[in-house]
Amino acid sequence: MCGIVGYIGTREAYPILLEGLYKLEYRGYDSAGLALLDSGVIQLIKGVGEISKLEEKVGGRKLTGCVGIAHSRWATHGRPSDGNAHPHSGCSENFVVVHNGIIENYQSLRSRLKEQGHRFSSETDTEVLAHLVEQYYDGDLLEAVQRAIEEVRGSYAIVVMSAYDPERLICARKHNPLIIGLGDGENMVASDLPAILSHTRRTYFLEDGEMAEVKANEVNVFNQQGERIEKEIFEVTWDAVAAEKGGYPHFMIKEIMEQPQAIRETLRGRIDAERGKVCLADDLHFSCQELKNYRKIWIVACGTAYHAGLVGKYLFEKLVRIPVEVDLASEFRYRDPMLDKDSLVIVISQSGETADTLAALRLAKTKGIKILAITNVVGSSVAREADEVLFTWAGPEIAVASTKAYITQLIALYLLAIYFAESRGMLEAGEEANYIKILQSLPEKINEILADTTAIEEVAAKISSWENAFFIGRNLDYAVAMEGSLKLKETSYIHAESYAAGELKHGALALITKGIPVFAVATQEEVFEKTVSNIKEIKARDAFVIAFTFQGKEELAEEVDQVFYLPCVSDFFAPVLSVVPLQLVSYYTAVKRGCSVDKPRNLAKSVTVE
Ligand code: G6P
Repeated sequence: MCGIVGYIGTREAYPILLEGLYKLEYRGYDSAGLALLDSGVIQLIKGVGEISKLEEKVGGRKLTGCVGIAHSRWATHGRPSDGNAHPHSGCSENFVVVHNGIIENYQSLRSRLKEQGHRFSSETDTEVLAHLVEQYYDGDLLEAVQRAIEEVRGSYAIVVMSAYDPERLICARKHNPLIIGLGDGENMVASDLPAILSHTRRTYFLEDGEMAEVKANEVNVFNQQGERIEKEIFEVTWDAVAAEKGGYPHFMIKEIMEQPQAIRETLRGRIDAERGKVCLADDLHFSCQELKNYRKIWIVACGTAYHAGLVGKYLFEKLVRIPVEVDLASEFRYRDPMLDKDSLVIVISQSGETADTLAALRLAKTKGIKILAITNVVGSSVAREADEVLFTWAGPEIAVASTKAYITQLIALYLLAIYFAESRGMLEAGEEANYIKILQSLPEKINEILADTTAIEEVAAKISSWENAFFIGRNLDYAVAMEGSLKLKETSYIHAESYAAGELKHGALALITKGIPVFAVATQEEVFEKTVSNIKEIKARDAFVIAFTFQGKEELAEEVDQVFYLPCVSDFFAPVLSVVPLQLVSYYTAVKRGCSVDKPRNLAKSVTVE
């Protein structure tokens, strides 16, 4: 998830590009750069750090040129560093590229280009694009870019500029957004609307497979077959703030809606659907012996990531039959945990910077224990210090309440559990292939849940006047109930408690009074009837019970006040679906109560103090 801005016209490009980059800062950044074209010469400035660092780097220098491209990077391939910052050039600086997305076959392309004499200067996947364009350039930049993208697999939004073709920028998109801002005697290209809104509101939205040549006075768009097509102009009516949120009123709901795509990114390149296999060879480097030798797994994390860890415990214990202890990082680090050499510690952290999680990682490391990190941020401290890393690729998460990071942490844990189980010979024939099919089906099933939120909004309206709520479930449903309760607390300030459904009668049942909202997650077949019995105990005390179960379990409707039916899936994968309506309930309740949804009081996105 990087930010892209391009300009071509009659004004100086530098201030326009810089302003555009600042407008895209909410997307996250770890490095930034720009390239300006003036009198046939490209000037390239880039480096690690925030956009202001780039501005400092430029200092008092007068950068001239009415054509330019700029980029703010959120690292995927290759850590944040000066060399890995965009724009990337080929062997010379005559061709420069900015890119958002992932080139999956970059390693084979890179080897081939190296054999052909190209010299690479970064660790990124993007750099192959610049070299490919350089390789194919034969007097026509559009054609060179066309040939280059024919060779790449993966996702991209790219803008290419060449010293040999100063009259135009060439751009292309596949699975990553790219828009063209239409001006008067000038045009812009950007990954997101905020970068162009102060200059124009007339836009073209490029579709997958489309390319465009953007000149100062003209924009031509081409389809996948290279034929020129007419595009409809889209007049943007959103204000600048709404544009940052893709038209949604809050980042939280935007991020909830992005979950299907985020899951696809987490799975990308890690499953071989044809062979029915999980392939983590590009991510992890365990030896077969190591995988077989582990006798215990510790999962250590904070907040929502801890709740993902609780799901992970069920997954590993069920599939791998290995004991798993899940610990809050702030507890783990101060209780002298009994870590044996045959233990593996998995730390989970969206930001990769949470102080307690980092301290727990360091503690385990001093004891010589191998650490595997599940994190969303490339270049974060956790990613750098762990022995093995599985990135979640959820893209920047802005809302304090974590949603898409959580769901991708779950996906990472499913992948890991299947990978471990397979390596230890725990899976039956066809089992892994079946799991892969299910994992691939999850984004569509989440889309079904997200398609109509009316009933959820109604529930949110009903519970919004309450100051207390309960969440119950058994086994995997209990882990999800804990996350549901945290979401409601942090976003709507309603006091919410989660209970293992069977445990309620040992105390909390005393708090159940007429009308109090109780959310019951009931997806686990083996304990379904037991959960229903617990629901009956609660209903007998006149609570307002909202249940979440699978389609086909219509009998539950008679026991509760409201049921939400989830699309059917093996109950082992239920958490990935059941958490979604709980996130939505929290969101709409917070909105109804007028809370600061994206920045709840007293909370921070990343807690870097203990
Ligand atoms: C803060 C955030 C939570 C997050 C927790 C752990 O409390 O508000 O949303 O779950 O930190 O953060 P991490 O970045 O380590 O996952």
